[in-house]
Amino acid sequence: MKIGILTGGGDCPGLNPAIRGFVLRGLDYGFKVHGIRYGWKGLVQGIIDDAPLTVAGVEELIRQGGTDLRSSRTNPYKDPAQLQAVKDNFKKFGLDAIAALGGEDTLGVASKLFKDGFSTVGIPKTMDNDLSETDYTFGFDSAVQVNVDAADRLRDTARSHSRAIVLEVMGRHAGWVALHTGISAGADYILLPEVPLDVDAMCAQVKKAHDRKGYALVVASEGVDLPDLDESEKKLDAFGHVILGERNVGEWLAKEIEKRTGLETRSAVTGHIQRGGAPSAFDRVLATRLGIRAAQCVHERDFGKMVATRGGDIVAVDIDKAVGTLRTVPIELYNSIVTLFNK
Ligand code: F6P
Repeated sequence: MKIGILTGGGDCPGLNPAIRGFVLRGLDYGFKVHGIRYGWKGLVQGIIDDAPLTVAGVEELIRQGGTDLRSSRTNPYKDPAQLQAVKDNFKKFGLDAIAALGGEDTLGVASKLFKDGFSTVGIPKTMDNDLSETDYTFGFDSAVQVNVDAADRLRDTARSHSRAIVLEVMGRHAGWVALHTGISAGADYILLPEVPLDVDAMCAQVKKAHDRKGYALVVASEGVDLPDLDESEKKLDAFGHVILGERNVGEWLAKEIEKRTGLETRSAVTGHIQRGGAPSAFDRVLATRLGIRAAQCVHERDFGKMVATRGGDIVAVDIDKAVGTLRTVPIELYNSIVTLFNK
């Protein structure tokens, strides 16, 4: 079988180990796995490797961040000409199936293509950890670790200068990254997109923490809704998402804290640093197992599936279900951890 493999959307640690797992298992089945470069854009433009991936080509990928296949946020369903090119190239290059590694957007395209009669399998990745039907996506654990390291450093400087510091982390519609970072870093307040912002409550908490220990640390998701923010002029990506990093949530919160409490306050943003670097051991294992399971799906011609982790097992679920709704942080979960910072 000739299989195309691509990575789309924001990169994250774990993509390379997943490619490696898929290719190594695929070789057992006799697949020829060809890299499609730059996500769906590569299929639109026919940027597909002539030579199939080999053991030598993938074996070092276990510890490498980013994606060797490169990525883009191309949405071929936005443009009929691009969609036609995708369908034509699928046939022209003689592909029997495509393994797509991505989040809701990239896998949404894989799901639609499957409905249009093309054989696709999805492998879930996103540092946001917001895909349904899977307990975790790889990239998340590595990103949280970067943030915890940053938060520990910020705590040192905040204490030295008796300041409050706001750390802004990624997470478009879901606050998983902020939640896990905040818990792991022992933050004094955690702000998620799922929980309406209460500036008074945040400031009161920051003040209390500062009175008690001489500094305060807030962890905020970039997706938090800020009052009076006019997003009408904001730039959108190909899937219609606002580019959240430009909202400067951390800076806005820091100014508000300083104005209302009188405490000297700074902000820091880990931004794309969260998406680079070597994958954590957890992400290497998860990505590898998902890659191997996806190759099995292809071998069994079990298409229209996304591989997933559930309760420690690796399973195949309907890709359609996985991309239908985002998995956000349940309010009950947030409420249960408020005890950590309401003292
Ligand atoms: O892929 C998800 C994500 O990392 C979000 O958390 C973030 O808002 C967005 O990507 C940033 O996208 P870009 O790399 O295109 O700036």
